[in-house]
Formats: sequence, structure tokens, C-alpha cells
Amino acid sequence: MAKILTKYVCQSCGYVSPRWVGKCPNCSEWNTFVEEASQPMKASRKPSGVGSKIEPIPMQDVEKEDVPRIKTNIIEFDRVLGGGLVHGSLILLGGDPGIGKSTLMMQMALELKDQVILYVSGEESIRQIKMRAERLQAREVKNVLLLAETNLDLILDVIDRGEPDLIIVDSIQTMYRPGLESAPGSVSQVRESTALLLRLAKTRGIPVFVVGHVTKEGTIAGPRVIEHMVDTVLQFEGEAHYSYRILRALKNRYGSTNEIGIFEMHDSGLREVQNPSAVFLSERHFGTSGSTVVASIEGSRPILIEVQALVTPTSYGMPQRNTTGFDLRRLSLLLAVLEKRVGLHVGSFDVFVNIAGGVKIDEPAVDLGIATSITSSLRDVPVDSTSVAVGEIGLGGEIRTIGQIEKRVQEATKLGFKRIVVPQNNLKNVTPNGDIEIVGVDRVEKAMEVLLS
Ligand code: TYD
Ligand code: MG
Repeated sequence: MAKILTKYVCQSCGYVSPRWVGKCPNCSEWNTFVEEASQPMKASRKPSGVGSKIEPIPMQDVEKEDVPRIKTNIIEFDRVLGGGLVHGSLILLGGDPGIGKSTLMMQMALELKDQVILYVSGEESIRQIKMRAERLQAREVKNVLLLAETNLDLILDVIDRGEPDLIIVDSIQTMYRPGLESAPGSVSQVRESTALLLRLAKTRGIPVFVVGHVTKEGTIAGPRVIEHMVDTVLQFEGEAHYSYRILRALKNRYGSTNEIGIFEMHDSGLREVQNPSAVFLSERHFGTSGSTVVASIEGSRPILIEVQALVTPTSYGMPQRNTTGFDLRRLSLLLAVLEKRVGLHVGSFDVFVNIAGGVKIDEPAVDLGIATSITSSLRDVPVDSTSVAVGEIGLGGEIRTIGQIEKRVQEATKLGFKRIVVPQNNLKNVTPNGDIEIVGVDRVEKAMEVLLS
């Protein structure tokens, strides 16, 4: 009788162990091993494919392929994809539960009116999907086919019988292949299901979307192990209490990974935000201390964002340092520089930093804006509301050169700001265009003088 072989697979990284272990030796996660039955491989002496002749092709003989793209008509979405959908591509859309992945997929399906879309859902009933589409103001939809099913073999059978132009699988964690012993959502099921969908995308030349949930740790559960298999990994993110949603490409074989798409969740679905600066600045209060406008580059686009700081005396014990949308360690560093170079004593003050609108920024060019907001709040002097500040702060208190200065200046000009404070060394790369004053600063002390007067 054949021996039943089992193995233990880490659900976090896919590491295989012959026996159960508490801590994964590969990714150091605890309690992630799950028992799975392993398919015994048939022993074969001969490597497969022997006998058939395969030949390599000289590179110069390979014809260049022009990738035609399907436009989704959602400009923000197309941009992140690199200019539209590519035939035969497998795209993973990851994100926290409830962030709006299914909504985005349905909106895309509704936009692609001349394509037959097969929407496979393992999470919702056909009724629920229909209800969502109605919420999205869908009328006379003739191109979307719905299927509530999780058995991938049955789904493939449906696909074989019909001719969909695009397939959406929502979500990959609910799909399973009956031949495998392990439960849906386990690493081997997710991996196997993806491999099958990959083959489908490539052989039929149609785009296939797979939706994947993110775990608490911020990695795509299960789907993390398929990131290398898919062509594109999109991440949909946002803060729970804000309606803004940001779509990023973490990997893209058909485009840049720098682009982001910005959406706002409304009652009737996601709406594109095409002028993010205006939106992010719309709630600004003039004349209050602790608020500075910075020009940050997100992808290839400049976005003006308000950075706020609140510095208040500590009431008990340890002074607090708290940030939303900004790196806490970077804040400590900026506070140390301000203490040493500007003489700002924050040792007995709580410091809170907030990037307005629920955006996350991790580029050093916002340093100057944060430092200005902190100084402004501590001294209770408002920052000049017609100015934008950009610049990286070095440990010596120097203002360091930043990239893409032209774009930042342009955006500030476009939104009617009168002045932009930039690193001294960046001055040579900008030619003033329009009536914005460009001021160069080389030291953080100097910048505070310019901005807080
Ligand atoms: P959903 O697309 O179901 O999220 P996911 O598939 O990522 O889990 O979206 C869920 C949330 O979005 C839910 O809290 C309701 C909200 N929502 C709106 O605010 N407006 C809408 O038009 C729709 C369809 C959903
Ligand atoms: Mg969903």
C-alpha cells in the first residue's frame, strides 16, 4: 500500500518541513505551519522532454512585440497599469478587507462595455454582486457574467465553454482545486490555483485579475507566495477613517512601478481624484500655527500636501512622539537636528505630526515642511500661508538637494502659491516660470527665518 506522505508548509513564506515546528526557520514567524498532503512524484530516470529537440533562438531574430493595451477608461487605473491592460497578463490586486477591491473590479467591468467579463466570486453571492453593481449606478449591463463558485476545476470548465475576454477571480484565497488535500487559502492551494490561472491567461491571451487579501502583518497572505508568478502586483490602500484610496503597482512587467492612482470612495463607488493637490489642500485653515504645505512627488506626479504638527507641554511622564503618515524615527531625527541647530527645546513637549488626508509620505523632501510645522507650533507663529517648502534636512542642519524640483515648482505655481522655499543647490535646476518667487536656503535656521516671519 502506498504510504501517505505529509509535509508541513509555512503559511507565511512557503517553507517546507517534514515535521511540525513552532517557529519557521526561514521567516521566523511563529505558529505558521500547516499539515498538507504531498503528491508523491513518480520516479523517472529520464528527464522529461528527452527526444524532442528544442533550440535556442538568437536574440536578434526575436521579433519585437508591440503590446496592444485595453483601456479601462478609468484614467487613474490605466496609469498605474502602465497605460492599460495587456492581453494575457495575470494581475494580482491586493489590499485590506473592505478597502474596495471588489468595487474597483466591478467598476472596471462596467466600464469595459465591449468586452465580455467573467466575474468569479468565492466570497459573495450573485445577488450581493448585483446589489453592488446597482449601487455603482450600473444600467443595462450586458457584458458581465457572474459566477459564484470556488471549485477551480468547475470554473475552468465554464471558461472553456464560454469565451470571456477578461476574467476576475475574487478572491484567490477562496479558490481550491479538488485534487489537492489542503484547505482553500493554504499556500499550496493558492499557489496551484494561481499556476492554473497563469496558464489560462497565457494560453488564451486574455487578462486575468486575481484579488488577494492582506493579513494583519501587511503582507498578502498566501498571495505573497505568488507575487513572483504574476505579471503585475497592484496594492490598494487607504486609512480606515478617510475616504481616499491609493492604488500602487508594487511590480509591473508592463510598466513603471512609480505610478499611483488616487480614488475617493463615495456612496456610489470609487471616484477618480485627478487633481489631488486641490483636494488635499481643500480643508486647510489659514493663520493657525503648525501647518506647512509641501510638494511631494508620488510616482511621476507632484502633489501638494499639508503637513501638520502639534507641540504641547507634556502633562505626565515621558514626552510623546506620534506620527500619522510619516516615519516616527525620521521625526526623532528631525527633532534632534532642530534642538541642536535651531535651539528648539522639545524635551518636555509632546510632538504630534500628521499628514493631512490620510496620505503616507516617505520621501525626505518633506523634512523641511515637517521641521517648519514643528517650529511653528512650538513658537505659536503661523507659517506664511502663501509659501510651499521642500528640502531634505541633513544631520548637520544643512538643506540637501532633492529630485524633480521643476515639477514641484510647477505644481505650486499652478495652485496659486506665491513663493516656494527650496534647497540652495537646487536653484540652478529651476527657471522661474510664472509669478512664483523661488527662494533658496542652505541651512535649517535660515529656512525657519524665511518661513516663520
Ligand atoms: P469592497 O469592494 O467590498 O471591499 P473589498 O472587496 O476590498 O473587501 O468595498 C467595501 C467597502 O466599500 C464597504 O465598507 C462599503 C464601501 N462602499 C462604499 O462606500 N460605496 C460604494 O459604492 C460601495 C460599492 C462600497
Ligand atoms: Mg471583496
